[in-house]
Amino acid sequence: MSSAAPLASPTRVLVVGGGGRENALAWALRRSQGVEQVWIAPGNGGSAELEGCEQLAIPESDQDALLEACRSHAIELVVVGPEAPLAAGLADRLRQAGFAVFGPGADGAQLEASKQWAKALMVEAGVPTAGHWPANSREQALAALEAQGKPLVVKADGLAAGKGVTVAESLEEARAAIEEIFAGRFGAEASLVLEERTEGPEVSVFALTDGERMVLLPPAQDHKRIGEGDTGPNTGGMGAYAPAPLLDAAGLEQVRQQVLEPTLQALRARGIDYRGVIYAGLMLTADGPSVIEFNCRFGDPECETLMPLLGPELAQVLLACATGQLQRAPALSIAPLCSACVIAAAQGYPGTIRSGDPIEGAVSPDPQVQLFHAGTRRQADGRCVSSGGRVLAVVAQAESFDAAFERAYGALEQVHFEGITFRRDIGHQVRSH
Ligand code: AMP
Ligand code: GLY
Repeated sequence: MSSAAPLASPTRVLVVGGGGRENALAWALRRSQGVEQVWIAPGNGGSAELEGCEQLAIPESDQDALLEACRSHAIELVVVGPEAPLAAGLADRLRQAGFAVFGPGADGAQLEASKQWAKALMVEAGVPTAGHWPANSREQALAALEAQGKPLVVKADGLAAGKGVTVAESLEEARAAIEEIFAGRFGAEASLVLEERTEGPEVSVFALTDGERMVLLPPAQDHKRIGEGDTGPNTGGMGAYAPAPLLDAAGLEQVRQQVLEPTLQALRARGIDYRGVIYAGLMLTADGPSVIEFNCRFGDPECETLMPLLGPELAQVLLACATGQLQRAPALSIAPLCSACVIAAAQGYPGTIRSGDPIEGAVSPDPQVQLFHAGTRRQADGRCVSSGGRVLAVVAQAESFDAAFERAYGALEQVHFEGITFRRDIGHQVRSH
C-alpha cells in the first residue's frame, strides 16, 4: 500500500505485558527488519530467553516507570499487549510525551472496556450484532428479561477478564446471572447488557489500524472451553489455528466492509483516533457474520498463532499505525502456511490452579516451532516455574493443519510441568484425525 516514501523501521521497541501474547509480539518484532533490540515489561519466566530481548521489571500498570523506560532506552515504538493498561490510558500518557504507541487511548479502549458503549457504537455504525438491552440497575435488567420472556445472554459491563458473560439456557439462569452482577464485585453501580442469543462457529479477525486505514490479519479460531469436544467452562483460550478456513478471502472482505470499516468510521465520528488493533470476535450465523465482542488488543492465544506467519515488515507496519501513516508502510507479507497453537495450562484451570511447578524439558530447535511462555516466572534461584492458568503456548507451522498440529503436539511432549493440562483436539475442525 506504499504511495509515499517508505517509513523507516524502528530499531528500539518496547512491548508492554507479561503473557504469551507479549512474548510472541516481542519475538516477532525482534525478527522484524531493522529492529535491533526489544524490551519487554514485565514479561515472564521465558522473556529473558528470547533472543535480542531484555526484560524490565516494571508492571504494566506503572505508567511513570514505563515512561521513564521509554526515555532511558530511547524507544521508537511501544506496543501495548493487554487491555487493562490501554483502558487506564497508558497509550495516551506515552503519546503525550512524544512516543509512538501501537494501542488505542482510553477513549478507543472503551470498545472493549464497556459493552454498553461498544453496543451503542455498533448500532450507530450499522454493524451486524445481536439485539441488545442495556441496563443500569437490577430492576431494569430483570424487567427487560421478563419483557423478552426467554433466556438471554447476560454480559457485565467493564473489563471482566473473560468472566463476565453468561449464555443462559433458562430464564432462571439469566435471572441468577443478573443478580450476581448487581450483588458482586461491581456492586450496585454495576451495569450490563442483555443480548439475544446467536448461533454459529466463532472466529477472530484482527485489523491493524492507523485510525484511518487498516490491514487485516488472517482469521484465527480460538478454543474457549477447557474440555475436549468444546465442553466445560470457558477459559481465556486453550489453543488456536490460522488461517481459519471458516472465513475465505471473500468472507474476510465482507467482515472488512460490514464490520471493521464502519466501526472505524464510527470511532472517528466520535473524535477517536484509534491506533492499534481492533479485534472482532465474530459468530458466523446463518445471516452472516455478527459481532459477539470487540477487543482493543490482540487475542491470546490467537496472537501466538499468527505472529509466526507475519513477515519482517511487522515492526514498520505497527510503527506506521502508531504514527497514522499506514499508507507509507510496506505490505505486510504473510507466509502461506498453516499455524497451530496448543496451550498447556495448569492443573485446575480455569478454577483454582496449582502453581510453582518447575518447567522442565526443552523443545528441539526448529524454525517452524515456537515455545512461548505465558503464566511462568523465574524464581530467585533462576528456576522457571508455573505461575498462572495458561502456562505455555506451543506453536508450529506447516503446509497442512495435520502436519502443523502433529509438530505442535510433538513439541509439547518435550516439555513438562506437574499437572500439565491440555486439549488433544485443538484444531479438530480442520484436522483429518
Ligand atoms: P465474551 O466474553 O464476550 O467473549 O463471550 C464469551 C463467549 O460467550 C463467547 O465466546 C460466545 O461463545 C458466548 N457468547 C457471547 N455472546 C453471545 C451471544 N449473543 N450468543 C451466543 N453466545 C454468545
Ligand atoms: N482468545 C480470546 C481473547 O483473547 O479474548
